[in-house]
Amino acid sequence: MSSVMDRISACGIVPVINLKSADQAVPLGRALLAGGIDVMEITFRSDAACASIKKVCEELPEVLAGAGTVTTCAQIDMAIEAGAKFIVSPGLSVKLVEYAQKKNIPILPGTVTPSEILTGLELGLDTFKFFPAGQYGGIKTMKALSAPYGGIKFLPTGGVNASNLAEYLAFDKIIAVGGSWMVDKKLVDAGEFEKITAMTKEATDIFHSVRG
Ligand code: 3PG
Repeated sequence: MSSVMDRISACGIVPVINLKSADQAVPLGRALLAGGIDVMEITFRSDAACASIKKVCEELPEVLAGAGTVTTCAQIDMAIEAGAKFIVSPGLSVKLVEYAQKKNIPILPGTVTPSEILTGLELGLDTFKFFPAGQYGGIKTMKALSAPYGGIKFLPTGGVNASNLAEYLAFDKIIAVGGSWMVDKKLVDAGEFEKITAMTKEATDIFHSVRG
């Protein structure tokens, strides 16, 4: 397992972040750190992604910053240039995975089917985003997929929140969970960083109660 996957596993919760402005990135990173999360997946759902990743890497070096919602090779280049340490993609694209591998950056592609996982294994991957987790059967489906593919790990995202976090984390094939609930865009845009820290702390408390 690469050290990036070790960091993601140790943190246990990957906030999926969509920022309107790069000025929000560092205050948000500080709020997450105060609650015990030192990983940020900053998504290409907004134009502020690259500048946000760059700011976090420069000003909060203790945070492991990655790029999310990556759908093109050009975005992989931009993410690396900004300092991203990992790539998350909503789906599995052979082209994207091979490009990330050529650029030496870990990639977690989204999968929900045995065929997608098989394709990922053929590419040398062993850790997959499972997205959208809620809609594709959550834990039940990941357990079924783990029967033939015992060596793989999942990062479920989509519908994960404080109410079902413990259930997800109890399954040992889950490297970490991802989600936006503690970094809700409305909270970030309103500058409600204390609330974000409180929700982050609630999540990390659940993580420690399940995983020790
Ligand atoms: C993702 O891209 O991983 C999801 O959109 C996060 O899902 P959530 O908003 O339901 O947490």
